[in-house]
Amino acid sequence: MSGFNTRAIHVGSEPDPSTGAVNPPVYLTSTYAQDGVGVPRFSDYGRVDNPTRAALEHCLADLENAQFGVAFASGLAGEDALLRTLAPGDHVILGNDAYGGTYRLLTRIFGDWGVNVTCVELSDVDRVRDAFRPNTRMLWVETPSNPLLNVASIRVLSDAAHDNGALLVVDNTFATPYLQRPLDLGADVVVHSTTKYIGGHSDVIGGFVATNDDELASTLKFHQYAIGAVPGPLDCYLLVRGVKTLGVRMDRHCSNARAVAAFLQTHEAVERVIYPGLSTHPGHDVAKEQMSDFGGMVSFTMKGGTGAARKVCESTRVFTLAESLGGVESLIELPAVMTHASTAGSLLELPESLVRLSVGIEDVEDLLEDLAGALN
Ligand SMILES: Cc1ncc(COP(=O)(O)O)c(C=O)c1O
Repeated sequence: MSGFNTRAIHVGSEPDPSTGAVNPPVYLTSTYAQDGVGVPRFSDYGRVDNPTRAALEHCLADLENAQFGVAFASGLAGEDALLRTLAPGDHVILGNDAYGGTYRLLTRIFGDWGVNVTCVELSDVDRVRDAFRPNTRMLWVETPSNPLLNVASIRVLSDAAHDNGALLVVDNTFATPYLQRPLDLGADVVVHSTTKYIGGHSDVIGGFVATNDDELASTLKFHQYAIGAVPGPLDCYLLVRGVKTLGVRMDRHCSNARAVAAFLQTHEAVERVIYPGLSTHPGHDVAKEQMSDFGGMVSFTMKGGTGAARKVCESTRVFTLAESLGGVESLIELPAVMTHASTAGSLLELPESLVRLSVGIEDVEDLLEDLAGALN
């Protein structure tokens, strides 16, 4: 099978051999019968393995062109399992526009444990190269980033990481494997919050880590069962179901986002529109090279500052004021005080006039009318 949509629908979801059911059963079991002492039929315990989880892992790894994939109970649980491959004294370089929760995990949990973190502007490759130290183990990149939608070159950064003996980790949550496959571009590890576009319906929390490195994959698998932040079978089923429509949803997210960005650009109350699909976006050319389209997220700042930004967020009717992103419904939020509040006072602090939109797949005319009403 070669086409993305065909793989998303069929890989891991072959008809059930005993019944012919076309969807993977939800195996609600915590343990498995053993045919003799120490001879389990499938696995010894539900935390170690579950067939619905295996179906999800098989499919998502395939879509990322990865040999191995490990699913977790949340995006942050997956990041945690990966970061636990570090040792006290190790150093990580993080983009200075990373998701606030990743920054919090690295600085407040792993920082206390002795991991050092340097935040840098990822579009400045000389700065990135200067930030490496002999103990740098990972360069952690989000592209496009949350919520500033900065775009970093995965190829250029993978050369910088590899020249310095470090791994390149790419958070592919915003692009999804439908639009961008980081392992093909030189990344060593891909992380996902599957809560977002992969689930696609704002009804599940999940995470996923993919790699072609078998040693790293077995450590991640070990962390999955030894630490235990595993997704439940029903969550895995929701993700298997969600990912089947990822391609068609992303096409609509992208076209709606393009129309929203174009509309905002013409509005007099808006100061700046940030969308990688705009030719004015500083990362537009890199995005064109490494992504097949520009995604469903749009950010913008208001000329009227914080007060005006808050008012817009509280005035829309179709866009729901809420955290998270990537679902079929449109969402609006103020990152500085909502999703990214944990970056306040840090290098990653955001302006309060910045509004982030997760543009859903509703009728675009309704979205534009809603924004027009809220901006006036
Ligand atoms: C880019 C990115 N990475 C990781 C995460 C963390 O994922 P989760 O909320 O599933 O733990 C988020 C959550 O918003 C995110 O936006």
